[in-house]
Amino acid sequence: MNSFELNKIMGAVLGTCLILLALNITAGALFSPEKPAKPGYNIAVKETHEGGGSAAGPAEPSKPIEELLASASAEKGQATAKQCQACHTFEKGGPNRVGPNLYGIVGEERGKDRGGFNFSAAMKSKGGEWSYQELDKFLTNPRNYIPGTNMTFAGLSRDTQRADVIAYLRTLSDSPKPLPTAKK
Ligand code: HEC
Repeated sequence: MNSFELNKIMGAVLGTCLILLALNITAGALFSPEKPAKPGYNIAVKETHEGGGSAAGPAEPSKPIEELLASASAEKGQATAKQCQACHTFEKGGPNRVGPNLYGIVGEERGKDRGGFNFSAAMKSKGGEWSYQELDKFLTNPRNYIPGTNMTFAGLSRDTQRADVIAYLRTLSDSPKPLPTAKK
């Protein structure tokens, strides 16, 4: 093999290397993995609602709370309200936990007092009172109704179940508020 031939072979090898390198760079640019906007892992958690409905499913049409309260059961509501006890106490003078004590909440001002509970800015700035209607809207999907609330509870998707819970909340009072009259 003369040196001219050797040169040709070396040239071919070098050329191949250069082409591979160029391919590698372009492939890297084309197929580089997408960087997530936030560092860490995306964990998809499906929120399930009490009663088997799913967050993604179409919302069931709800009846007005005034109508539902007429046939609501405070006893059933008390049973459902066990879910709330992870974060709330219900008895008079009960302590605040993750959420405030809820004795006498019906008709009270939103995000006020409750033994100095540290409400979120979202809850405080919403203002108004916890009427039956407001409780109904909030408990359907708290974070939907008051975006930014600290109440990380998925909500009660069934209207009758909400009415039962609200009927129970109403009994937690020295003088329960009158039931609303159904608008016909
Ligand atoms: C995971 C904990 C958690 C669960 C479960 C929970 N809550 Fe709450 N709740 C909170 C927190 C925290 C707040 C305060 C929210 C804020 O300041 O934004 C709150 C606020 C409230 C308020 C407003 C109180 C006020 O004085 O303005 C009501 C009413 C309420 N919750 C009812 C319920 C009911 C009824 C249930 C059960 C069906 C329930 N919550 C389940 C944590 C929870």
